[in-house]
Amino acid sequence: MGSPNLKVLLESKTLERCPFPIPAGWFFVDYSENLKPGELRNVQLFDQEWVLFRGEGGSVGMSDPYCPHLGAHMGHGGKVCGEHLRCPFHHWEYDASGFCKSIPYAKIVPPIVKREPILRTLPIKEKYGLIWAWFHPACEPPSWELPYIPEIEDASGYTGSRRGSWTANTCIQEIAENGVDTAHLKFLHGAPMIPPVEATYDGPVMKLDIGRGYILGTAYGPGLNVMRFTQQGVTATMISYTQPISAEKSQMNMSFRHPDFAAGSTELHIAKKIVDHMIGAAEGEESAGFESVDFIVWNNKKYRPNPLLCDGDGPVLQFRKWFKQFYVETPAELRQGQ
Ligand code: FES
Ligand SMILES: [Fe+2]
Repeated sequence: MGSPNLKVLLESKTLERCPFPIPAGWFFVDYSENLKPGELRNVQLFDQEWVLFRGEGGSVGMSDPYCPHLGAHMGHGGKVCGEHLRCPFHHWEYDASGFCKSIPYAKIVPPIVKREPILRTLPIKEKYGLIWAWFHPACEPPSWELPYIPEIEDASGYTGSRRGSWTANTCIQEIAENGVDTAHLKFLHGAPMIPPVEATYDGPVMKLDIGRGYILGTAYGPGLNVMRFTQQGVTATMISYTQPISAEKSQMNMSFRHPDFAAGSTELHIAKKIVDHMIGAAEGEESAGFESVDFIVWNNKKYRPNPLLCDGDGPVLQFRKWFKQFYVETPAELRQGQ
């Protein structure tokens, strides 16, 4: 029998950086304004390529790129025709649910074409000015809805056009784990203390209260996180929507909003300061935002399935248990050829 030290050492050699598949959930695809009617383009998401298109009437579709007929890549030479995606090779046309709606030269359409969708497409929603796709490894339909977020949905009362995007070479779970790892806030980010954290879990929703009301966060599955920071009675909101690009690459995206305070008011000043603080740009602050420091850790770390934790650590294991629900087995038929 080796010593515990040896065990930890040996384990470290076999650890993987990101030993997880792509989780199920609603994920941000792009900003609505970036996809014009009639536009089509290739996007890399969920560990594969997809064709994203907007019909001339405005509806959005996202499909597997390879045509079920003879395998042409519809993102190279394909076209949007009305609300359909048309393959360049023989002009078969598909709707956003993956049904083949036209085979221009067939007298007898294969029966399956009438019966069911033959192209893999993802359920799409447009909400908060963002395009969302429901990804499920076994192609099951959405099991929860995107929530109402007043800060980004109410036509009046809120403001803020600041947004950011950052790429991290790690999986989405490792990034999300930061939210419950409150000890790192002091040591990596230089916060004055380790804030207390309370986490509650309810199906796909996780709520965090960090620092007794200072930050109230709600995660809706793995792809959407709303965090409200309150200081001196003023609340500013960070809406974060990270994308799993591949098993080892994620893109973090965030919007920052706050109530529409009068120009020159103290409240506006505080709200702006909170937003600066969130992105680590606040002047004269010791605390470093994630931009400068978290990435160094994320881009180089490995995942320890059996971490050595202590009493001052946040609820890391509870968080992992909650996150596990989003990992769904990919059926063998869909795994073939991967
Ligand atoms: S390969 Fe797409 S229509 Fe033939
Ligand atoms: Fe962090």
